[in-house]
Amino acid sequence: MQVADRLLRTPPYPFAELARLKAKAREEGADLIDFGIGDPDQPTPAHIVAALCEAARDPSTPQYDETGKGLPEFRRAVASWYRARFGVSLDPDREVLRLIGAKEGIAHLAWTVLNPGDVALIPDPGYPVYKVASMFAGGELHFMPLPQADGYLPDLQAIPPQALGRARLIYLCYPNMPTGAVAGVDFYRRLVEFAAGRNLLVCLDMAYSELYYDGHQPQSLLQVEGAKEVAIEIHSLSKTYNMTGWRIGFAVGNAEALNALEKLKSNVDSGAFMAIQRAAVAALTGPQDGPEKVRAIYQRRRDLLVDGLARIGWRIPKPKATCYVWAPVPRGYSSAALAEALLREAGVLVTPGSAYGEHGEGYVRFSLTVQGGRPEERIVEAVARIKEKVKLG
Ligand SMILES: Cc1ncc(COP(=O)(O)O)c(C=O)c1O
Repeated sequence: MQVADRLLRTPPYPFAELARLKAKAREEGADLIDFGIGDPDQPTPAHIVAALCEAARDPSTPQYDETGKGLPEFRRAVASWYRARFGVSLDPDREVLRLIGAKEGIAHLAWTVLNPGDVALIPDPGYPVYKVASMFAGGELHFMPLPQADGYLPDLQAIPPQALGRARLIYLCYPNMPTGAVAGVDFYRRLVEFAAGRNLLVCLDMAYSELYYDGHQPQSLLQVEGAKEVAIEIHSLSKTYNMTGWRIGFAVGNAEALNALEKLKSNVDSGAFMAIQRAAVAALTGPQDGPEKVRAIYQRRRDLLVDGLARIGWRIPKPKATCYVWAPVPRGYSSAALAEALLREAGVLVTPGSAYGEHGEGYVRFSLTVQGGRPEERIVEAVARIKEKVKLG
């Protein structure tokens, strides 16, 4: 058979490659401490699981969800969560769209907005899906570096006019994966001003909006006046409620963009299981002590890891948000060389920063979702193994 050129030009999804390396090391008998993929190791809160079970028993839920935008009660729950969390009012009928996870919406958005030859502005380092989806849609890519010195915010004024003139879509992600940075309303004001009048849609990926520490509670771009004219935000229940496998998320904001995305989606997917949408209503409208617990767990792990590594001479800034630690590599290593040394010498699996773009070189990413049980003990053990086995310069 023929494999399409667009796929041949696409690098393997970084986590698929990691999964392969991991399987190989395990086959060889290694006891891996896995800081690779960001996938919560805690259970989904019981009341959400109970809502799913109850909804799954309801004979009306197994059919197609023909609503297009998602169940009305799901969209109303999103709107009321948004009002309570960000003080932003949304029209559940026009300004909320159900997604089969944030990744799905992010990927399909590029097909919705870009014509071949249009430019997509992509943060570097960034979630690989922005780049690959834009390429699939025939877009050209312009990467915006996120310098550590600028708080991992892009310099919008540095985008060259030849890219900016053809730019139709800008992806951004705050709280930022992989760096753990947050953006403030000042930046969002500049962003809205920048996009206004340019026929440029802003897509802010907020998959990590509820994982924040030390009072750095993220704000919404939609809090800025005029934002709904130019922007959508994409959310996920995956990390907030330990629901990665459930595949449920939502997009909010500019009604025209959401309408177009709904049109595209109606041609390629047939909605999300209605019982999962009802369970998502229970998540969004029920007790919010789950996310609080999740934050406390990751904060403890973050401190164990970062303080532990500092004690052995590896100084890493503490992330303000997300479930990742973005660690500058010690002198003498590339990202890939350090990731390889950690895996080979210490059985510690991290993601090389270069998997997230050219500007991720010089970093490795630790996920605080530690796979395989006993996460805190494993973090302590990882620090001990690194101290003993890996030369940190
Ligand atoms: C930055 C970012 N956006 C979106 C997603 C996808 O989230 P979901 O599970 O809702 O598809 C991830 C998942 O790791 C992510 O890191």
